[in-house]
Amino acid sequence: MTSLTASHAADLVAALLFILSLAGLSQHRTSRAGVVYGIAGMALALVATAVVAAQSGTARALALIVPAMLLGAVIGLWQARRVEMTQMPELIAVLHSFVGLAAVFVGWNSYLEAETDDRARQALADAGLLGIHHAEVFIGIFIGAVTFTGSIVAYLKLSARINSRPLVLPGKNALNLGALGVFVLLTVWFVISPSLALMIAVTVLALALGWHLVASIGGGDMPVVVSMLNSYSGWAAAAAGFLLDNDLLIVTGALVGSSGAYLSYIMCKAMNRSFLSVIAGGFGIEAPSGGGEEQGEHRETRAEEVAEALAQARSVIITPGYGMAVAQAQHPVAELTRRLRDRGVQVRFGVHPVAGRLPGHMNVLLAEAKVPYDVVLEMDEINDDFADTSVVLVIGANDTVNPAALDDPASPIAGMPVLRVWDAEQVVVFKRSMASGYAGVQNPLFFRENSSMLFGDAKQSVEDILRALGDGPRRADSSRTAGDDGGLATVRR
Ligand code: TAP
Repeated sequence: MTSLTASHAADLVAALLFILSLAGLSQHRTSRAGVVYGIAGMALALVATAVVAAQSGTARALALIVPAMLLGAVIGLWQARRVEMTQMPELIAVLHSFVGLAAVFVGWNSYLEAETDDRARQALADAGLLGIHHAEVFIGIFIGAVTFTGSIVAYLKLSARINSRPLVLPGKNALNLGALGVFVLLTVWFVISPSLALMIAVTVLALALGWHLVASIGGGDMPVVVSMLNSYSGWAAAAAGFLLDNDLLIVTGALVGSSGAYLSYIMCKAMNRSFLSVIAGGFGIEAPSGGGEEQGEHRETRAEEVAEALAQARSVIITPGYGMAVAQAQHPVAELTRRLRDRGVQVRFGVHPVAGRLPGHMNVLLAEAKVPYDVVLEMDEINDDFADTSVVLVIGANDTVNPAALDDPASPIAGMPVLRVWDAEQVVVFKRSMASGYAGVQNPLFFRENSSMLFGDAKQSVEDILRALGDGPRRADSSRTAGDDGGLATVRR
């Protein structure tokens, strides 16, 4: 078998492994296998790339590839070890920006190569592919640059380095549509008469458009933005694959692009948002009114009072959010669940599709703390049960339990389905202050008659409740591992 055939075979196997990986990741039970398939596919792709470079005969190619791979591996391992779960979306946004930047470099490189290498240009011209090549270069640079700056803005918003409120420039929709129109005209011009000036023009235009598209989207819609940029980065990789004539990059890019687009669509449905509006930079969304100002008086409570209410409750629903992840409160929360269930209280969890900062964030934390799957319910499964619930514990959630989403059409989160916790007899909100949630909107829930605030770090508050409940808290630290059967696994009935 020639090296080229072997490398095509390796590409095919790697592509199949990536497909198996996506299929595995779609379910809890098969997700570990999904990760293993993904690692195997990527390892195979890297080895095949290095082997092809080695057999191409140019020592320079190998001398560039091997250090780049080693450097990338070191940075990747270092990041994977130090990143907190709550920082994952930020990390993903940064990684997407690299894909976008790489696509821009590949596009520029292909253009300069064709310009400076007469033989390469002649070969493309002889095959009648010069125009197509120029269109590929332009489209690749455009998608890559939009992904690059869009991902940087997403990173800055997710890491709270800039305000997550939407930027509303006058005529923002016309600006976005105008930029798209100009891109189409520039592409036609470039195919007819390529020039350096047009290359610079499309790069600058796409960088500005990427920045504006994501800056125009409000904090509440950021989950969709992250998956949308995931999709863009896939298309950017596929475009680079066409330019590099690399089948694996085309297949992988198309997989990432289409699965990211589908995830964005599912999230838009879950959040009652228009898919087209969000991917077009909040097209048609007016400047939101309302902000973080307080809207009445709130009532404070203490851990002892909450423990008493829980001891007398028939049924309890816990709605976790980003604050539970920040406080790493999932282990004491799991312990509280076990204790209450031992006392005969019905305890369930209500998980909002965008609670936390990444899809499935709460499910991962609760599984890690060994909360049984069967008491963890999705929003739609539990929303009608709040009315028949004694106590709801809102642990570090805010936007996902905000009644303004249903009651206030002018709210930035209007229309987003939320957990109707206020229907319960009593609601206890665990947080550290009266600060607003990620979307920057105050929450009228805090001022309702049946709500009370338990201020403090969520982990500390839950541990205080465990102490007040009496039986002497079992070990509720984060040192438990999946194999430790002393936790909630014993509660499964
Ligand atoms: P958020 O609305 O983000 O509110 C989290 C609350 O946790 C805050 O009000 C904060 O109040 C509290 N908190 C923070 N640290 C805490 C600690 N150590 N102890 C106790 N409380 C703490 O949470 P949510 O309800 O989960 O909503 C998620 C939001 O993030 C939505 O707007 C969603 O659109 C957005 N988002 C989601 C994703 C995905 S894919 N899930 C991705 C990006 C953005 P204090 O500061 O007063 O404590």
